[in-house]
Amino acid sequence: MQNFDYMTPTRLVFGEGAISKLEETMKPLGKRVLLTYGGGSIKKIGLYDKVLELLDDFEIYELSDIQPNPKYDPSVLDGVKICKEKNIDVILAVGGGSVLDCSKAIAAGAKYDGDVWDLISYKAFAKDALPIVDILTLAATGSEYDCGGVISRTETNDKIGYMDSHLFPVCSFLDPIYTFTVSKKQTAAGCADAMNHTIEQYFVEDSTLLNDGFCEANLKSLMYNTKIALEHPDDYRARAELMLCCTYGCNGILSLGNSGSGWPCHGIEHALSAYYDITHGEGLAIITPRWMKHILNEKTLPRFIKYGINVFGIDSKLDDMEIAERAIAETYSFFESIGIPMHLKDVGIDESRIGEMAHHIAVNEGLENAYVPLGEEDISQILTASL
Ligand code: NZQ
Ligand code: ZN
Repeated sequence: MQNFDYMTPTRLVFGEGAISKLEETMKPLGKRVLLTYGGGSIKKIGLYDKVLELLDDFEIYELSDIQPNPKYDPSVLDGVKICKEKNIDVILAVGGGSVLDCSKAIAAGAKYDGDVWDLISYKAFAKDALPIVDILTLAATGSEYDCGGVISRTETNDKIGYMDSHLFPVCSFLDPIYTFTVSKKQTAAGCADAMNHTIEQYFVEDSTLLNDGFCEANLKSLMYNTKIALEHPDDYRARAELMLCCTYGCNGILSLGNSGSGWPCHGIEHALSAYYDITHGEGLAIITPRWMKHILNEKTLPRFIKYGINVFGIDSKLDDMEIAERAIAETYSFFESIGIPMHLKDVGIDESRIGEMAHHIAVNEGLENAYVPLGEEDISQILTASL
């Protein structure tokens, strides 16, 4: 078992009506609020009006139109500008992972005098950040419970995931009812994202029985409840469990004491969404089974056997390699069954830039240190198999 030094300081307020505690939570953080949100879904579900009503006594400034795969320019830079000009005290992020991630970059940038990209690209480290409170409206990334953010810079095809301990939200409000309106596409993509977060922590060299159990339960719950939510979008129980599964996905709690994996599927997917602006969870669902096939060998076989038997209930009496291959096939079939397009060509990606992307990933993502090390040729093969 590996040593660790772990802290997640974020307060979670979970359940129907959770945002009734919004005002009392925001009050000690200051009066001048930057309200951040995306393309308008929060207005359609009445959450925007509700927030303004609850924060009647606050001075509210707004940054809207934050796009999926949030952009450094304009969104992050615009947000930093508002924070500095208006002397903002606290950021209230209302939306999905993209809004939260963008808000985190803004929070750090607001307290930094240099080029904000330095903070995202690890050239410099934040010494401080504005406090962030969020109201989550889409179960997927786990950004509500971690200190990471992922920001895209279009002109250089960069999509960088970075962590900074200043960026844990102070408080995340998780009311499953706000996720009832999430489309089938985004519900499925959110499930695939959280499943992959769990898989990235499960396929490691050294893991504990405890973590294996947590991960297996998280995967089973995600699959079970996604099927229900797709059929009945307003099933509170299913949406609630999905929300919590996703929240557990990304802050390391599923792998305390495990060795790391290097998060290879994320390393590969981030390039796909940087180059082609695709939906993150869909890219992961396409890559995951191909990556699994690529890394299946005598050494990794025991992990696949455990995964196949405990997550998919595959008969343990079958031949070892057959269990592993069936486990990979089940992973693929599940994603397909929830409506995810399972080929890169289905999401507008052809072979023309595979070489370029494989090179970019090999240079930038450090996958030579992954659970099974991946070089440029491995990455290129995984991408080609995903076409
Ligand atoms: O922009 P609006 O109008 O709000 O619409 C959004 C957006 O179009 C919509 N949506 C959100 N809540 C809704 C809703 N539609 C109807 N009803 C609601 N209640 O859904 C669309 C997608 O939103 P987005 O925030 O982009 O999705 P998600 O939460 O999946 O976030 C994806 C981003 O997070 C990053 C991804 O790379 C991607 O950029 N990630 C962040 C991580 C982190 N911070 O820890 C980890 C992840 O691995 C991931 O990389
Ligand atoms: Zn992810």
